Amino acid sequence: MKEFKRYTVTSALPYANGPVHIGHLAGVYVPADIYVRYLRLKKQDVIFIGGSDEHGVPITLKARKEGVSPQQIVDRYHNIIKKSFKDFGISFDIYSRTSNKTHHKTAAEFFMTLYEKGEFIEKTSMQFYDEAENQFLADRYIMGTCPKCGAEDAYGDQCEKCGSTLSAEELINPRSVISGNKPVLKETKHWFLPLDKYEDELKQWILEEHKEWKPNVYGQCKSWLDSGLFPRAVTRDLEWGVPVPLEDAKNKVLYVWFDAPIGYISATRELTPDWEKYWKDDETKLVHFIGKDNIVFHCIIFPSMLRHEGSYILPENVPANEFLNLEGDKISTSRNWAVWLNEYLEDFPGKQDVLRYVLCANAPETKDNDFTWKDFQTRNNSELVAIMGNFVNRAMVLTQKYFEGVIPEPGNDTDYEKEIRNEIVRIKTGIEKNIENYKFREALKDAMSIARTGNKYLADTEPWKLIKTDTERVKTILYYSLQLCALSATLAEPFLPFSSDKLFKMLNIERPEWEKTAGFDLISAGHKLNQPELLFERIEDDAIELQIQKLLKSKEKNQMEKITVTPQKDVITYDDFVKQDIRIATILEAEKVPKADKLLKLLVDTGIDKRVIVSGIAQYYKPEDIIGKQICVLVNLAPRTLRGIESNGMVLMASDKDGSLKFVGPEGLCSNGSAVS
Ligand code: 2FM
Ligand code: ZN
Repeated sequence: MKEFKRYTVTSALPYANGPVHIGHLAGVYVPADIYVRYLRLKKQDVIFIGGSDEHGVPITLKARKEGVSPQQIVDRYHNIIKKSFKDFGISFDIYSRTSNKTHHKTAAEFFMTLYEKGEFIEKTSMQFYDEAENQFLADRYIMGTCPKCGAEDAYGDQCEKCGSTLSAEELINPRSVISGNKPVLKETKHWFLPLDKYEDELKQWILEEHKEWKPNVYGQCKSWLDSGLFPRAVTRDLEWGVPVPLEDAKNKVLYVWFDAPIGYISATRELTPDWEKYWKDDETKLVHFIGKDNIVFHCIIFPSMLRHEGSYILPENVPANEFLNLEGDKISTSRNWAVWLNEYLEDFPGKQDVLRYVLCANAPETKDNDFTWKDFQTRNNSELVAIMGNFVNRAMVLTQKYFEGVIPEPGNDTDYEKEIRNEIVRIKTGIEKNIENYKFREALKDAMSIARTGNKYLADTEPWKLIKTDTERVKTILYYSLQLCALSATLAEPFLPFSSDKLFKMLNIERPEWEKTAGFDLISAGHKLNQPELLFERIEDDAIELQIQKLLKSKEKNQMEKITVTPQKDVITYDDFVKQDIRIATILEAEKVPKADKLLKLLVDTGIDKRVIVSGIAQYYKPEDIIGKQICVLVNLAPRTLRGIESNGMVLMASDKDGSLKFVGPEGLCSNGSAVS
């Protein structure tokens, strides 16, 4: 394994268009912070870079919606995000932002170097343009009907209903988000990074030379590379961003994904005049901490930019995490389904480490994971309180009680103490190995096992009984227990920095060096401890219930507010309308379609005949509840076969604001076959 002289550790720059939530912490910032704190304890030369990603279309959309400038939006959220990170002990050496001057200069220079080296392809293409507003429309500025699922509010890059990736030209009835008008296609020039040309070198570098990358990262890269790369535009027709530094590029900016990773370099430049050694010396280990949605940018696009710029090193590793869900649902800012860090601290003041602990213990390292408030409570009460807090408390309280808080002189080691020494060496090696391999969950388990070892030691030796017969032995036991407390405070520091500090204060010692923790002489006999306090407190059911209620309320409120009225479709004639033959019908039989969660097979009496219709309503109605119900049926729809069943017509349903479906039927009883017009 190559030895490195220094480390540059970056963490994804969050978009400054909203506060940060537990998903951000679990996916990126807690693991990055653990890694960096560990390296610092090991006395490595390391810089930890963070900052806000302040460009991109969503920020301009939010600004437009609020009637303020994009700068006002990013100023607001940059400060909120920066504070949250500080509050949670994310120990950046710098937390910068991409709207600042240094960044604009660095990104423009980077672009120019690639440009002058002839790396870019210049291409003219047709793009949507809003004639009323005189501007090209970014994909997010175009909405229309999804060609895949028919949802009418799909964006030009994605349909949020069915999740399909789209291109704006695919949308049916596209409309401009700004004016509502139908956009026209207009010619525009852009600069492209020819990723297809870099395919072979990327394959060699990732697939051959970095087989050690996490399987989720390696796998995603392999799948991108196997399906073939294409040139990527690195400029956009937009006003907000880093202006393209070319004469013939009026009203064009660098694509946000081109400038954002350069933000890591700009921030380093701000941090130190010596920045180049952190980016251009191959004795520097560059590590990017990111979430899985950023993999292609950090493993394929940014490294290609770095390599072809010519003077930079490439990342040594990109330990991306998967996603954290919340109570079984995807975390979503727009649906307000999240635990916001600023709100968490209002409800659980001083409990930063509890969240850090739970998010690390349950981190989505190799697959998506779920955060639940119940699990949060259990991990606090049964692990932090019952294991670590309990051990520290017992060791400290017994020392106060028997020796007035002064660390006793130990006697000779027994085999038990020798075994504890060996155990600690194993634990420490485990923590190191796991952190160095980005296995933070395992490393945390190791760190907790110091207190587990201590608890077992006290339970096995029972100093509270021995004190009556063998004070000398009790002295040894408490001496060892307090060494274990100091060890625990040191080795758990990367994970639980606040509790580690608190414990050092209780022990009344400075933080020992990591390397010294191999010996058992972290606190000397004769040293006076401070008064013990509880390291962690129990979290009661009512506090958890409150959080669950809060989440549910915010979900409901959000749903109520989200009354999205589907825009009117294109005008049709009366003749178009009467082509539809809609009749009142009665449901005679209903049953679930096997292996299809959404489908019910209905037998309906249309007055004309009795026929089978397959309908996607199984999530909203139970078969037994709808027998006898009168409904409206489009009877002259051409038959379709669904799951092997021929469906003859369509049941008309109202789609409510939350996407749920309700039958449409006559107000009172009506004869089957009555025409609806
Ligand atoms: O996904 C995101 O939140 C992006 N803002 C991450 C950017 S990371 C880096 F490139 F700056
Ligand atoms: Zn769709």
